[in-house]
Amino acid sequence: MTELATEQRQYVAAKDATAFVEAVLVRNGVTAENAAIVARCLVAADLRGVDTHGMNRIPSYMERIRQGVLDGLATPKVTQITPVVSQVDAQNGFGFLAADAGMAAAIEAAKTYGIGMASIRHSNHFGMSAWIVQKAIDANMMSLVFTNSSPALPPWGGKEKLLGVSPIACGAPGKDHAFILDMAPSVAARGKIYKAKRRGEKIPLDWALDKDGNPTDDPAAALDGGVMLPMGGPKGSGLAIMMDVFSGVLSGSAYAGHVTGPYDPSKPSDAGHFLVAVKPDLFMSLDAFRERMQYLYDRTVGAEKATGVDRIYFPGELEQLEQERREKSGIPLVQAEIDALNAESQKVGAPPLVVKGSV
Ligand SMILES: NC(=O)c1ccc[n+]([C@@H]2O[C@H](COP(=O)([O-])OP(=O)(O)OC[C@H]3O[C@@H](n4cnc5c(N)ncnc54)[C@H](O)[C@@H]3O)[C@@H](O)[C@H]2O)c1
Repeated sequence: MTELATEQRQYVAAKDATAFVEAVLVRNGVTAENAAIVARCLVAADLRGVDTHGMNRIPSYMERIRQGVLDGLATPKVTQITPVVSQVDAQNGFGFLAADAGMAAAIEAAKTYGIGMASIRHSNHFGMSAWIVQKAIDANMMSLVFTNSSPALPPWGGKEKLLGVSPIACGAPGKDHAFILDMAPSVAARGKIYKAKRRGEKIPLDWALDKDGNPTDDPAAALDGGVMLPMGGPKGSGLAIMMDVFSGVLSGSAYAGHVTGPYDPSKPSDAGHFLVAVKPDLFMSLDAFRERMQYLYDRTVGAEKATGVDRIYFPGELEQLEQERREKSGIPLVQAEIDALNAESQKVGAPPLVVKGSV
């Protein structure tokens, strides 16, 4: 969620953000069809308040295209391995495209067989996992969405960066409230440290260690040779290994510390992903499933509250509420972020971002 001071906020309408991202991508050689998919995924993150994984990522993605380590022209190749299993070769194109194609294939299989799985290799960063979970929910499907990512966490007991801050995500359709859990196995997602650095903010002391192994509140010290800390000690470290087993080892993509991060334009990422779609109306009607989800929601948010707590939220609910706000207000950005985006559009002669001004 954003926590910008009021005077810093400038707002961009979702449709203008989408048009901007599409134009920059197309001028960088991406087909209009693929640019539309990438723009939709990035702006979905901005709308949900996941600012770390939205259009602010454009400069680093475009740098990868310029350096020739991400193929902006690539289109994923989907191969049916069994009736329920697809293999997707991202061909070093955008992770967004490969994950979109993979989840589409998994959903199609699940419609007929109850379950569908896609293993994706030779891919790149796909941003916020929740957009893939939402794609499944839009098709009335439950889902698992796993990815591996570049080294940032030590295995429990170690001090070397080896495991990714690889999000584990899953979801299910509900009646009035979908379930979307999308969480990195670190105390905080690394994108939040990049955001703090970009915005000149400090980070909490329990997020990362500096290169000497000391807790730090300086995002630059955390990023410069430091390590992120796993949530829950060995449990977070175990989840990061799980993401690598399912996404990296299984797919044939890079793993065990060999995925290249989206901010390192020196070589291809070779990230892997693992997606599963499950039909919720296998053992009961979809309506009955939705009713049961509603009961779980009501029980969860209606639980007795701890001292000082006003409201209990269901996983994904805070982001859904933020999306409803931002669909009206627009997406808040600071001037430095707008400048960085406009520098990107200038490079390729695309129009600047349309900003609604401060609210
Ligand atoms: N593609 C990649 O390689 C990569 C790597 C790291 C992170 N990410 C993305 O970064 C994003 C941020 O991850 P994060 O772990 O910092 O997320 P987070 O800590 O903000 O939220 C994690 C989960 O907890 C839920 N949640 C948060 N506060 C809650 C509350 N008060 N009550 C109930 N539920 C609550 C959220 O709905 C969410 O499902 C995710 O979208 C993730 O996919 C992507």
